[in-house]
Amino acid sequence: MEKILVIDFGSQTSHLIARRIRTVGVFSEIVEPSRAMDFNGVKGIIFSGSPYSVYEKNAPTIGKSVFGLSLPILGLCFGHQLLGEMLGGRAGKGKREFGRAELEIKNHQLLFDGFGEKEIVWMSHGDIVEKLPKGFQVIASTKECENAAIADFARKIFGLQFHPEVSHTKNGLKILENFVVKVCNCKREWTMGKYVGEKQREIVKAVGNKNVFMLVSGGVDSTVALALLSKALGRERIAALHVDTGFLRENESKKIMDKINSLGLCELHFVNASKEFFSALKGVIDPEEKRRIIGETFIEVQKKEFEKIGFSTNEWLLGQGTIYPDTIETAGTRYAAKIKTHHNRIPAIKEMIQEGRLIEPLSQLYKDEVRELGKELGIEKILLERQPFPGPGLAIRALCSDGRQEELSTLNLKANDCIRGYNFIARLLPVKSVGVQGDYRSYAHPCLLTGFLDWEEIEKASTRLTNEIREINRVLFAIEPKRIERISCKRAFLTKERIERLRQADSIAMQAIEEHSLAEKIWQFPVVLLPIEVNGRGEAIVLRPIESREAMTARFHSLPEEILKEISEKILKVPGINAVFFDATHKPPATIEWE
Ligand code: XMP
Repeated sequence: MEKILVIDFGSQTSHLIARRIRTVGVFSEIVEPSRAMDFNGVKGIIFSGSPYSVYEKNAPTIGKSVFGLSLPILGLCFGHQLLGEMLGGRAGKGKREFGRAELEIKNHQLLFDGFGEKEIVWMSHGDIVEKLPKGFQVIASTKECENAAIADFARKIFGLQFHPEVSHTKNGLKILENFVVKVCNCKREWTMGKYVGEKQREIVKAVGNKNVFMLVSGGVDSTVALALLSKALGRERIAALHVDTGFLRENESKKIMDKINSLGLCELHFVNASKEFFSALKGVIDPEEKRRIIGETFIEVQKKEFEKIGFSTNEWLLGQGTIYPDTIETAGTRYAAKIKTHHNRIPAIKEMIQEGRLIEPLSQLYKDEVRELGKELGIEKILLERQPFPGPGLAIRALCSDGRQEELSTLNLKANDCIRGYNFIARLLPVKSVGVQGDYRSYAHPCLLTGFLDWEEIEKASTRLTNEIREINRVLFAIEPKRIERISCKRAFLTKERIERLRQADSIAMQAIEEHSLAEKIWQFPVVLLPIEVNGRGEAIVLRPIESREAMTARFHSLPEEILKEISEKILKVPGINAVFFDATHKPPATIEWE
């Protein structure tokens, strides 16, 4: 079979490259650079990005013999810099660039065939190719990066500083398609239908004569995983458990139980374990610590229920609806950096994988592929189109603090200096959130802007602040109150009272999506509670509506002003809330969730 090899140097999006190539209809496989490779059927090679710099001591690399194969090569981000360095040019530190950039195309042969003069592309880098190798020419540039796309047409070797694999590079798929079809001359023979059949045969083989006990949150992933397992093995060989952690949305558990029961895929059990979860998380502030504890509590609760029902581990495997981003963000591949520990990727689970006691039929897929697969299995649209909701639930959307204040005045000056000329006042907030910049985790401050709501200006200021000031990885805009005199951090932990406060705010935002028919545009709408007192009172809520396709990149969704006003007025009536902010940061540099 014809295929494209993706060499994985540890980027958050390596796997996404392979997934995109499959979308084009060509089989694609990921391999680690240090492993022996089989080049049988290979028509082209792609070098992925990486959290490393090419010139770093332990940076991954590949044997030079790859250039002796006379196969077309496409290097992306780190892969582009590696090509530059290995073929006799030079890579080095450049201007940091995260998010959207405008590409000016200078040569339309092959890779940019069919493109106009300008394209929007997605950047996430601090390094650049400084000096081109012999035989290469620049085929496209951005304002900040001259060597944004380079080519050696004679050897069919190309390098791109940006990421064509992410959906926010508007015509990225077309670039990959051009590489695969026009440069590598591949035929398109691969389909999702084939994948479903193959997956079912794989499940039957992997499970052997055992059964599967599934943990179901009721989200798209666990529902599709359940349906796939049930189809492959038969209803009587599957049992499922839904756990109410105490961190779910309003009335969520009941809705989930009703829906899954109505699908009739298996025997379904329920346990309310909110007491266990709240007590395990008492006094915890650190986000990674929260995630680890939640993952472990899930396993403990599952074990207890499993025994209560009377199942034996000799006869049952544990099933989960883990999808690919859960793995990659937890540093699940050799060179990848850890962004955050997903609740289904804690050490206890990794141990079960090693021992062959776990089955995760969706672990190679992205959310959009899971939805496609669900459609193939005949699951109702209404279930497949539900907004993603993280396993740890509202627990990672309620930030906690010991109330320690931080001295931020120097950074405040720096931030205001950085956005001089814009009509905003900038203030760093005394809390931190997780981000992903250049394939690395960041844990830095949000910067709050006050001023008039002008989305274009907000987006520009946001990109500027996060590109230029390392201590900022997220930018907020203050919806209410308009006048901010004092901001301080308060002591706050995961209590039932705070979660209830957040649950009410979340429910208001969810209602607004429904009432204004925004579900098509907004892919996910996290609502976050901050232990921040504004003008000496209450706490703050952050609205984070985003547009995305597979969660690896995202754009903030600029809500119409009147809808924002309506949501914020309602939220301000929730007891204990005194401020509503809007998160105006793309991914990268910020992740979708705050923790
Ligand atoms: P981030 O915050 O990494 O989120 O940009 C990407 C997507 O993953 C969801 N998410 C999770 N889902 N368990 C889950 O099942 C988790 O621990 C988890 N953390 C993040 C998030 O809601 C978004 O859709």
